[in-house]
Amino acid sequence: MKLIAIDIGTTKICVLIAQQTINNDFEIIGIGKSPSKGLARGVVVDILSAAHSIKTAVKEAELMAGCKIESAIIGISGSHINSFNSQGMISLKHKDIREHDINQVLAVAQSVPLPEGQQILHAIPQFYTIDTHQKVQDPLGMFGMRLEAQVHIITGAIGSVQNLIRCCELAGVKVQDIVLEPLASAQAVLSVDERQMGVALLDIGGGTSDFAIYQHSAIRHTKVFPYAGTLFTNDIAVVLRTTSADAERIKKEYGCVYHSYVVPGQEISVECAQGDQKMIIYEQEVYEILECRITELLTMVHHEMEHYYFAVPGGLVITGGGSLLHGLQEHAQEILKLPVRIGKPKVAHYKEFLENPMHATGYGLLVHGMKKLNGNDRASFNGSLSQKVLARMKSWIFDFF
Ligand SMILES: Nc1ncnc2c1ncn2[C@@H]1O[C@H](COP(=O)(O)OP(=O)(O)OP(=O)(O)O)[C@@H](O)[C@H]1O
Ligand SMILES: [Mg+2]
Repeated sequence: MKLIAIDIGTTKICVLIAQQTINNDFEIIGIGKSPSKGLARGVVVDILSAAHSIKTAVKEAELMAGCKIESAIIGISGSHINSFNSQGMISLKHKDIREHDINQVLAVAQSVPLPEGQQILHAIPQFYTIDTHQKVQDPLGMFGMRLEAQVHIITGAIGSVQNLIRCCELAGVKVQDIVLEPLASAQAVLSVDERQMGVALLDIGGGTSDFAIYQHSAIRHTKVFPYAGTLFTNDIAVVLRTTSADAERIKKEYGCVYHSYVVPGQEISVECAQGDQKMIIYEQEVYEILECRITELLTMVHHEMEHYYFAVPGGLVITGGGSLLHGLQEHAQEILKLPVRIGKPKVAHYKEFLENPMHATGYGLLVHGMKKLNGNDRASFNGSLSQKVLARMKSWIFDFF
């Protein structure tokens, strides 16, 4: 059995092909990567360019694995994503709780009015209550008169989801499942203990910074901020009046956000946006630009936690390409007054490529797929986009085109 994950990021597309192993684990057999075109802030803005980028990465992965990709699990993000917690309750007819009772109580919890154009992407059970017995993780087979479910609902714009599906179809890949990107990244970089004690995750990508909070092993909160790496590069380009390509180079080579990392007097040669001239700037100037933007992002993260009164003894785990900024861990610790670490996927093979925060989402999509395949995702993740909804969205696309 093969599993395929496609991380359709704003700056890069990453395709991973994995082969299931006998111990219900998986081994990566194909990797494909290409620069992403046609996406802005996590959403498709040019279908043909995006489809072409996906196709390039798919071909590379197919060549390496020596097989053809037919369907894949993909990630989704963007500022059209919303989330909230909801409850459902049913009375039990037979006292012992059966599969259809759980499905029914989850369906009740999901029957909430949504703004026009929004669709439920995930309805993730947080915990169940049986009569007065709270915080039950898996109620199957237990006894009671009344079953309640507390779920975290994540919605997305129907149009944005359809655009993503359409891009994949044009690249010759059927969409098997769609997973919210921070949930996928969490699967790759958070430990079971962290999720149990309470932890926050921030995936700083190119187009969006995706945030999630876990407590008692359940997802409690998700949020997408439209502030990420492309904006940081743009800030550098505008303030220093340099080209985007040079601003990106400067950010990766010299970008730091903690004062003690700045080398005093360090000069940097920069291309002028107008003409071929070069100018000299100081690393301190790059630090000031980036520190300002990162502080803004971390302040939003802080407000989000305070607003919802979330305690996270496990601290904050930062991942995504944006987490590679020097000194981010120290700066975030000072602002948030929390333990902070940079999260990288832990892998057995292709460490050099995959043990990079940039690949947390792609690897996490595979972990999610494997959990689903092994049927051990009931308590944590059984509410991903149902096949029924996926089929309906696909049929709308083909009705339209
Ligand atoms: N060494 C580095 N220092 C600072 N930033 C970096 C570094 N390497 C990569 N980045 C930034 O990381 C961003 C890309 O990260 P990532 O691959 O996680 O995003 P993405 O998945 O393409 O986008 P998104 O998830 O937002 O749709 C780019 O903006 C890039 O400039
Ligand atoms: Mg990403």
